Amino acid sequence: MPNVVVVGAQWGDEGKGKVVDLLTEHAQVVVRYHGGNNAGHTLVVGGQKTVLHLIPSGILHAGKTCVIASGVVIDPSVLVGELDSLKARGFLKDDGQLVISAGAHVIFPWHKWIDELGEKARGGSKLGTTGRGIGPAYEDKVARRGIRVRDLLDADRLARRVKERLPSALEELRRLATAAETPVPTLEPEPLIAEFAALGQRLRPHVADASLLLAGKISKGARILFEGAQGTLLDVDHGTYPFVTSSNCVAANAAVGAGLGPTAIDKVMGISKAYTTRVGSGPFPTELTDEVGERLRAKGAEFGATTGRPRRCGWLDAVILRYAARVNGLWGIALTKLDVLSGLKSINLCTAYELDGQRVSELPGDVEDLGRVRPVYESLPGWDGDLTLVRTFDELPETARRYVRRVEETCGVRVVCVSVGADRGETILLENPFRT
Ligand code: IMP
Repeated sequence: MPNVVVVGAQWGDEGKGKVVDLLTEHAQVVVRYHGGNNAGHTLVVGGQKTVLHLIPSGILHAGKTCVIASGVVIDPSVLVGELDSLKARGFLKDDGQLVISAGAHVIFPWHKWIDELGEKARGGSKLGTTGRGIGPAYEDKVARRGIRVRDLLDADRLARRVKERLPSALEELRRLATAAETPVPTLEPEPLIAEFAALGQRLRPHVADASLLLAGKISKGARILFEGAQGTLLDVDHGTYPFVTSSNCVAANAAVGAGLGPTAIDKVMGISKAYTTRVGSGPFPTELTDEVGERLRAKGAEFGATTGRPRRCGWLDAVILRYAARVNGLWGIALTKLDVLSGLKSINLCTAYELDGQRVSELPGDVEDLGRVRPVYESLPGWDGDLTLVRTFDELPETARRYVRRVEETCGVRVVCVSVGADRGETILLENPFRT
């Protein structure tokens, strides 16, 4: 029974939510294994739009178990808000459909303040974080002073943990607020403890040992779909450091985050847009600051699902896709938003870089080098017409098919899925990763 990881092959926002929603039909369990509500997965089913930040995109399918694993950092008020809004719309009828790992770390208000004020204090060299407290929550986890979901369920233990952590968090906030020349936020322990204990009670019916539950499901033959967040180049170890998020986005972290061995992963599907986008700071070799970039942003509705920020847009970069193939072990690629490229006379595909007069075909490890490279483009003919009604690969315009085939050749991975619109139905699935 294959277990499949869906992972972003670029800088996030590749359309993973849609692919996960589509593949959920073939799995019994969907697992979020890292990140937090910095992610925003937009799903459109039958014209109805749902944006999820924490709950796996498989939740719109009745009868599937969705797991938020230990590797995730959870803002409990965001999670409760998502639960309530899904329930109000008739989803999540059975509490057992959502499982939250007791070992996942919790985002507290001080994490959000530290994130926000830290960015302000950085001035012109800010990272462009989502401001959701993700980095500071992971910092607490690694520093072994984090507070976990299991702690929310025991009011005395929660009070102890908050009182241990709050003084040093306030000290850091005072320092950052002074550097950012903004008022120091106040955080009183008692209301905070009461609020988070109440949130813990709301989450209690869902809290379990996720690793144990997943191992049990696998032993009974269930197929698991691991849902990545962000993207390969935002990975804290393998991305464009320091312009990255604070967790490992690469596929191997699905096993770590979920509490399973690496042998639990059979296939990895990389998701890439037919072009490239990035939010936040950092180098972006194929970025377009001209009217073509504007056109991609407008036609592709390239505004963050979490922060609403306009995304930077550019041509597809096969150097990045080759890198993503290597560090994730990609089995296949889902190429999304092909429809957005319709109407362009010609389309550029970056196949290599030029760095200090030398041609390089691999992603430079040094982010400053990446900032200096010049993309080497291959120009391919564009196509006209609305692709959103196309349902088979052969129905695509000849030049669109040629573009897809050239992407495969230049990145060395098969394109197994092409998305031609936001709706679940607007997809051409050429090869199903769950079929052995
Ligand atoms: P953080 O994850 O909020 O700390 O932000 C760090 C970097 O990752 C920033 O450049 C963010 O814009 C980026 N980022 C975080 N989550 C996402 C996502 O889901 N999609 C795209 N970019 C993201």
